[in-house]
Amino acid sequence: MFTIITGAQFGDEGKGKIVDMMASQYDIVARFQGGDNAGHTVVAEGKTYKLHLIPSGVLFDARLLIGPGTVMNPGILMEEIAMLSDNGVEVSPSKLGIDAKTSIIMPYHVALDGLREQKRAVKIGTTNRGIGFAYVDKVGREEIQMADIADKSRFMRKIEEIAPQKEAAIKEMGGEPKIARSEIDAYLEIGKKLKPYITDVSKEINKALKDGRKVLAEGAQGTHLDIIHGTQKFVTSSSTIAGSACAGLGVGPTKVNEVIGVIKAYITRVGEGPLPTEQKNEVGEHLREKGGEFGTTTGRPRRCGWFDMPLARKAINLNGYTSMALTKLDVLSGLKSIKLCLGYELEGKNIDYMPELSDDVSRCKPIYIDIPGWREDITDTESFVDLPENARLYVELLEELMGADIGYISVGPGRKQTFMK
Ligand code: GDP
Ligand code: IMO
Ligand code: MG
Repeated sequence: MFTIITGAQFGDEGKGKIVDMMASQYDIVARFQGGDNAGHTVVAEGKTYKLHLIPSGVLFDARLLIGPGTVMNPGILMEEIAMLSDNGVEVSPSKLGIDAKTSIIMPYHVALDGLREQKRAVKIGTTNRGIGFAYVDKVGREEIQMADIADKSRFMRKIEEIAPQKEAAIKEMGGEPKIARSEIDAYLEIGKKLKPYITDVSKEINKALKDGRKVLAEGAQGTHLDIIHGTQKFVTSSSTIAGSACAGLGVGPTKVNEVIGVIKAYITRVGEGPLPTEQKNEVGEHLREKGGEFGTTTGRPRRCGWFDMPLARKAINLNGYTSMALTKLDVLSGLKSIKLCLGYELEGKNIDYMPELSDDVSRCKPIYIDIPGWREDITDTESFVDLPENARLYVELLEELMGADIGYISVGPGRKQTFMK
């Protein structure tokens, strides 16, 4: 059984919570793209875990894998392993495997990310974690891989090969060229510690599937941040959609059984780029405050707006969702009326699907319908029938207009605050 979970909007849909909720039923949970730009929150037994690299199944017995499609900052991984250990969760090599080919984020990637963003006339608002430049080196065939930092002579050979052009690039952007050769000893030290974790992720997963075991692929970021299909240039540097799980983990598409899209009952975005239903007013404030909409990785306030159906329709096509998990329905409680964006007006025409180009998306004027809200706190609700009538109507309308089944509804950050529709 192979299940893929991705975010259907611009990230932070609650993927961490949904993966944690499902993880007890899986033998393996694997990350297939992105890096520590991700911030996945798991709230369990009164504790909050903010995970950047370690898959959100960590609190269960599942084997965890970091696939070769990801980019990994080893220092951040070590911090995360230590944080979990402080909380009584040991992440040993029998628990976590890292693919030998996982791209390593080097100090020069982080430096270049910061320098480039500073110089951009039109900013992206990156997380400043070096993600884009690490993927540039993967595509440019100049990456340093997990296996390299675990082997001193390989690592030194690669640094000698790569450092001169990194020095030149950093210098050209007004940075400190010494960064290109910094932290070498620290990386080797961590490489030594991580060596026992090295594995062949594709081999492990394919064997598990052949043996009838269950594998869950955990997406990072969200559909509209996809490097190929997203709102370029305001995107991340990896492919975030379900198909990327097959490529990133080395599993054939014929093996996929289920694709679950995590989607908020409204929408948020952190960083720059078009967001047609954004509410820069008291509604946006309500969503931000009640939903705790501040970046898990950067702490930045998230931009908030109404649910956007044209974006959801495109996400359903791009991912081929077999069902959806609707999160943060509780955040809408207390709003007198709720707007739902059915389509857009663009150049005098009405459209019901997200246009291809970012420039067009940013010119779209949302067409809304008003739906009566509900006052009741729903955070203790345990079943669909117990929701207030207007909340039920809202969920049913979303389902009908998306043309996709909502399998789970989440009404709070906690594990128990989820029920099946
Ligand atoms: P991810 O990146 O998709 O894993 O999402 P984040 O963890 O960055 O952001 C989601 C935030 O919403 C986290 O703080 C979660 O604890 C919280 N959360 C998840 N589901 C719900 C929900 O149904 N209701 C509320 N109020 N909070 C939720
Ligand atoms: P999770 O997995 C929300 C955004 C950044 C920026 C753009 C590019 O927690 O949902 P990058 O550092 O990746 O080059 O930044 O992508 N971004 C996210 N937004 N959730 C995330 O991850 C994100 N990861 C990157 O804010 O706009
Ligand atoms: Mg997040």
